[in-house]
Amino acid sequence: MSGNLKGRHFLSLRDFSGEEIRQMLDTARLLKLEHYAGRRQPLLAGKTIALVFQKPSTRTRVSFEAGVAQLGGTALYLGSNDLQLSRGESIADTARVVSRYVDGIVARVYAHADVVELAEHSRVPVVNGLSDFSHPCQILADLLTVEEKRGPMAGKKVAWVGDGNNVAHSWLFGGAKLGCHVAVAAPRGYEPSPEVVAASAEDARRAGGSVTVTTEPAEAARDADVLVTDVWVSMGQEKEREARLRTFRPYQVNASLLALARKDALVLHCLPAHRGEELTAELIDGPSSAIWDEAENRLHAQKALLTLLL
Ligand code: CP
Ligand code: NVA
Repeated sequence: MSGNLKGRHFLSLRDFSGEEIRQMLDTARLLKLEHYAGRRQPLLAGKTIALVFQKPSTRTRVSFEAGVAQLGGTALYLGSNDLQLSRGESIADTARVVSRYVDGIVARVYAHADVVELAEHSRVPVVNGLSDFSHPCQILADLLTVEEKRGPMAGKKVAWVGDGNNVAHSWLFGGAKLGCHVAVAAPRGYEPSPEVVAASAEDARRAGGSVTVTTEPAEAARDADVLVTDVWVSMGQEKEREARLRTFRPYQVNASLLALARKDALVLHCLPAHRGEELTAELIDGPSSAIWDEAENRLHAQKALLTLLL
């Protein structure tokens, strides 16, 4: 059921119904139109949003800061050395205190349990701005991007090729809720979490979609409407770099893989990208790429999200 999302945390797309996700996307579309018409809606006037970031960020940080400003609110960026967290104050105490000052918290963390704990002890909505487990804000923007260019998600085949990581998990959750056929191709040992696969397969079935996991990129890419990938080495995995580059080599998204997808297939990547590793330069900068609009849509999707939750 869609309706009032006020006061809810946004930790995982699995926590929201397909109708609620649709409400976020519809609101994002409206706010994007307002933005392009040069109108600034003061929907967050007088509100403060804390951005508690334990990891670096370009898109998430800048799009939240700019989005909050455009809606008349104030964003407060708190990097890893800015809080007493860095000197051992607990997540729970930080949440208890910070949530008495601000109207919403966006958190980027290593362990997903940290953003869950933050939410448990916060009086105000907590938004997951990326954890090791998931990246729901990104997929909201991705869904918005595909729908703007190709219409409703239901029935579309989305091929995730590469690491079964945090972004893959959110695609599984979000794609499933909207009735997509999500096909993941990942090397053995790097598949998405079995719990995520099981849960999203169940959600997908209910919504008329499906979830498959294979080790064969070609199988996932065949007839896909969307080809998505992400870095082979996520933040926090730097020590595994050499081994990962070797393992993932056959999973590069390139012209021969794209040739198996539908003619009008879109290529997505949450960025930052490593041209020549997970995705060729030819594709990222080519006509099938929706990557720059995808990055822009973080702004509109997150403005919608904050407007609905706060
Ligand atoms: N896609 C994404 O979340 O990018 P940043 O790490 O730059 O925020
Ligand atoms: N999987 C990547 C996404 C970055 C936006 C990471 O966690 O580093």
